[in-house]
Amino acid sequence: MQRIFIDTDPGVDDALALLLAMKSPELHVEAITTVSGNVHVEQATQNLLTILGLLDIADYPFIAKGEAKPLVKPLVKAEHVHGEDGLGNISKLLNPDGNPRYPNATCEISSMSGVDLILETVERYPNELVLVALGPLTNISKAVQKDAKLMQKLQSIVLMGGVFSEYGNVTTTAEFNVYVDPHAAHEVFNSGVPVHIAPLDVTHQVKLTGERLETEIEARNDKISSFLKDSTQACMEFYRQNVGFYGLHIHDALPIGMLTHPQFFQSVSAFVQVETEGHLTSGMTVADLRQTYHASTPNASIYTEVDAEAFLNHFFHRIFS
Ligand code: RIB
Ligand code: CA
Repeated sequence: MQRIFIDTDPGVDDALALLLAMKSPELHVEAITTVSGNVHVEQATQNLLTILGLLDIADYPFIAKGEAKPLVKPLVKAEHVHGEDGLGNISKLLNPDGNPRYPNATCEISSMSGVDLILETVERYPNELVLVALGPLTNISKAVQKDAKLMQKLQSIVLMGGVFSEYGNVTTTAEFNVYVDPHAAHEVFNSGVPVHIAPLDVTHQVKLTGERLETEIEARNDKISSFLKDSTQACMEFYRQNVGFYGLHIHDALPIGMLTHPQFFQSVSAFVQVETEGHLTSGMTVADLRQTYHASTPNASIYTEVDAEAFLNHFFHRIFS
């Protein structure tokens, strides 16, 4: 059983990743922290409770609210993609009795800061914990700033972020999570903790089309199916108008699959750096794939290929389990 810690900015694809992680018997989600990204961290934390409310579980992970803004840059959000509430505006959906269609889980939110929950969890499980980062890296970078030595006791950081041989999804050169907080990403890549990256180059290979989702849920009548349909519609419409297909990339689900089913993926080792100041290139991730070049030793594995059909089949098998 792999102990993991998830840092997230839910976010429609974050929701899919969280459900997949919670339904993966290979993983134990010890704790979850939220961070401003797709939506402000207050909304992200409410969304996390909504997502956990879909699950019939006895022992919830520890939860703490993280940082509200990036280290240096002003916060840039993505409500135009994920909906005003960050989950496709499902918070407006009510049952006939007037109660929310998707009520929040009743679990506690720790009074601890997200940064302190990260450090406390690493200390509790030295060399056993993998940190999965699904949003801007603000919380993780602040944990490194606060206790870099303790953070070396993380097994690794597995993150969705960056782009190398494609265009960015915010600017020509930058992917959203790194674009929002490039200074945090720079700190994480220079922390000394091994980093495994799921960039747009690999997440763009997995397209969840509206048609495929419809096929998977048409014969079902359960909370998860209903949530998948309701939470993804606004995002799929954004994709239809701006990306060229009716569906979405399930970006954040891939790091979960990289942990449980590495056989679906291929990766290369590289020395990765982050541009923090460029006018055109702020948030750009730069990879040097040379293994012996004297100026750089590899600090990351970049995931480059995925068996998309196998991963999607696995995703649906697990999400409905
Ligand atoms: O670029 C995609 C990433 O940005 C995903 O994590 C998505 O949730 C958004 O946070
Ligand atoms: Ca995310």
